[in-house]
Amino acid sequence: MNDDDGSLEGVVAAHTVLSEVDGETGRLVIRGHELDEIAQRWRYEDVVALLFEGFFDTVPSQEALRAAIGRARREAFEQLQPNDADVLRRMSPIEAVRALMARLSDGDDLPTALRLLAAPAVYTAAVMRWRLGVQALAPNADLPHAADMLRMLHGLAPTAMQTAALDTYLVTVCDHGLNASTFAARVVASTGAGLTSAVLAGISALKGPLHGGAPGPVLDMLDAIGTAAHARVWLEEAVASGQRLMGFGHRIYRVRDPRADALKGALHRLGAEGSVDAARLELAEAAEQAALAILREKKPDRALETNVEFYTALLLEALGFGRESFTCVFAAGRVVGWLAHAREQVAKGRLIRPQSVYVGPAPEESSEGAGAV
Ligand code: ACO
Repeated sequence: MNDDDGSLEGVVAAHTVLSEVDGETGRLVIRGHELDEIAQRWRYEDVVALLFEGFFDTVPSQEALRAAIGRARREAFEQLQPNDADVLRRMSPIEAVRALMARLSDGDDLPTALRLLAAPAVYTAAVMRWRLGVQALAPNADLPHAADMLRMLHGLAPTAMQTAALDTYLVTVCDHGLNASTFAARVVASTGAGLTSAVLAGISALKGPLHGGAPGPVLDMLDAIGTAAHARVWLEEAVASGQRLMGFGHRIYRVRDPRADALKGALHRLGAEGSVDAARLELAEAAEQAALAILREKKPDRALETNVEFYTALLLEALGFGRESFTCVFAAGRVVGWLAHAREQVAKGRLIRPQSVYVGPAPEESSEGAGAV
C-alpha cells in the first residue's frame, strides 16, 4: 500500500462478485467466466444478463432482454432535441454524450438501468453523424445492440462479422475490477443519488486521458511509422529517445493482457473477410513484432506485452469509428459494469466515506488565547 502518492494503489476498497483482474497470471474473470471463453462467443446482451443478475428484481432473459434494450435505445433517441446537432457537435464527442446522458431521469430500477445502458450507443452514433453534418438515425429496436450501433453510425447494415467484432469489444471492456470510473460510479451510488448520477460519474472519470483516452495515440504512432518496412527503425529511435511505445506495458498485467488477445482475434477474423485495410494490418503486425522485440531487449526482466489499447485502436478503426469517438465506444461497453457495481454498492447500504490525514499547517494560536491564563 502506498499511502502518500494519492493513487490508493494496493488499497482494497470493495468486495465484488462482478470481475477479477489477475495481473500475475494475465487472466480476467467476468462473474465466473474467463474472458477468453466469452469474448468471442457472447453478445453484449449476454454479458448484461450476467452482470445484472440478482441486482434488479427481475432481469428478462435472452430475446426479451434484447427487445427491452432495443426499446430503451428508442426511448433514449426520443430525448434528442431539434437544436442538439448545432450545439453538441462543437463539444468533444464524450462531452456531448455526457450532456445527453444527463437528461435521462434518475432512479434505481431496471427501466432506468436499461435506458442508461442503451443510451451511449445511440448518442455516440448521433454525435458522430452530427460532426459529419448528417442527421442522426433512429434506432431499430429489433436489432441486436451491437448491430444497431453500427447501423446508426454508418446508415448501413453491418456484416455478421462486423457485429461480432463489436460484440467482442463491448464484452471485453464490460468490467475490469475497481478501475477509476467504476470506483467513481460506486462512490456516487453509495450516496443514494441514483443510477444516472453514478453513470455520469463513470463517464466523467473515463473522459480523462489516463483512463479512457489512450487508444487514439496508438493510431497516431502507426501513422507516424507509415509503412511496415519502417517499423523497426522508427520504434528503435523512439525508445532510444526515451519515448513510451503506445499500446505496450500495463500497470497490473505482468504476463499478458487477456483483453489484447480477445481483440486481436476479432481483428484477424475481420481481416479474413476483407473488412480491414490490408496495409494497415501489415503495418500493425510489423509494429507489434518489432516493439515486443525492442522492449524485450530493453527490459529483459520485465514482461512488456501488447495491451488492450493497441488492438482497441485497430479494431474500432476497422469498424469505422473515428478515433475521437473511441472513449464513447468504451463507455458504451463499460456502462454495464458501472450499473452493476452501482447496484452492488447500494445493496451494501453504506455510504463510502474514507478518511484523510491532515498534513496542513496547525492553526496559529490567537494573541488573545496565547496570553490567557
Ligand atoms: N514503452 C517503452 N518503455 C516502457 C513502456 C513502453 N510502452 N512501458 C514501460 N516501459 C519501461 C519504462 O520506461 C520503465 O523503464 P525504466 O525502469 O528504465 O524507467 C519500465 O518499463 C517500467 O515502467 P513503469 O512506468 O514503471 O511501468 P508501469 O507498469 O507502471 O506502466 C504503463 C504501465 C503506464 C501502461 C506503461 O507501460 C506505459 O506508459 N505504456 C504506454 C502507454 C499505454 O499503452 N497506455 C495504455 C495502458 S492500458 C490501460 O491503461 C487501459
